[in-house]
Amino acid sequence: MIQPPLPYSLRRMTTDDIPQVMAIENESFPAPWPARVYRNELAHNALAHCLVLEVDASIRPAAGGEVLPVRRTGSCVGYGCFWLLEDEARVSTLAVAAPWRRRGLGELLLLALIDEAHTVDVKLLTLEVRVTNRVAQNLYAKYGLEIVGRRKRYYTDNAEDALVMTVKLLDKAYQAQLVQLKATLFSRLNSVALRPLPINMCDAGQAGRSCAT
Ligand SMILES: CC(C)(COP(=O)(O)OP(=O)(O)OC[C@H]1O[C@@H](n2cnc3c(N)ncnc32)[C@H](O)[C@@H]1OP(=O)(O)O)[C@@H](O)C(=O)NCCC(=O)NCCS
Repeated sequence: MIQPPLPYSLRRMTTDDIPQVMAIENESFPAPWPARVYRNELAHNALAHCLVLEVDASIRPAAGGEVLPVRRTGSCVGYGCFWLLEDEARVSTLAVAAPWRRRGLGELLLLALIDEAHTVDVKLLTLEVRVTNRVAQNLYAKYGLEIVGRRKRYYTDNAEDALVMTVKLLDKAYQAQLVQLKATLFSRLNSVALRPLPINMCDAGQAGRSCAT
């Protein structure tokens, strides 16, 4: 598992995370998954790989005036899952809590999913994204995913089309690109402010759920 800079950490999702996951889910998607779907994913779906991103709950001023993060019980600020389908990892969901967006955490979660997919020898990462969800499409394009198809009226809540995006993970040039993206991201994570932005400064609107629903 990727070890991001403090105050962030990544780990596997457990059922204890579901209340915090649902708070993010409900603010992030027009057709949120109910909690029972996550319970089922964690308890019964052996194909599901789900990660959560935590941030340490407090910071304190250090003697010299600089601010040091203190590790204590974290709070969940994002999560992502994929299904392992033979040699393909299909991203089923990805979200960052609204006050924590635009800090590189969506990238961090996507990178963590890609890293997890590598550990299980997956060749291809795929997902579906709403045609109107340009924010997520930008994120995926930044990480090399290309549009390879379109599913007509894929989303049942509003009959919106889905774009199918994919990337070949084992490609050598892609691996090199990932190393560069990770270095740039970690440098960014080390330099962004630790406190959440006020909600009205973020993209708090519902952006459209990914991927397989
Ligand atoms: C999509 C989502 C996970 C991105 O999370 P985030 O932490 O804000 O994203 P990051 O700060 O890591 O940004 C990474 C890239 O995403 C794109 N991006 C993020 N916010 C954007 C915005 N408001 N406008 C345009 N592009 C944006 C950019 O390419 C950005 O790279 P850059 O910083 O070099 O410009 C988040 O907006 C979210 O949870 N949305 C609701 C749920 C959702 O749509 N999930 C995806 C379903 S397929």
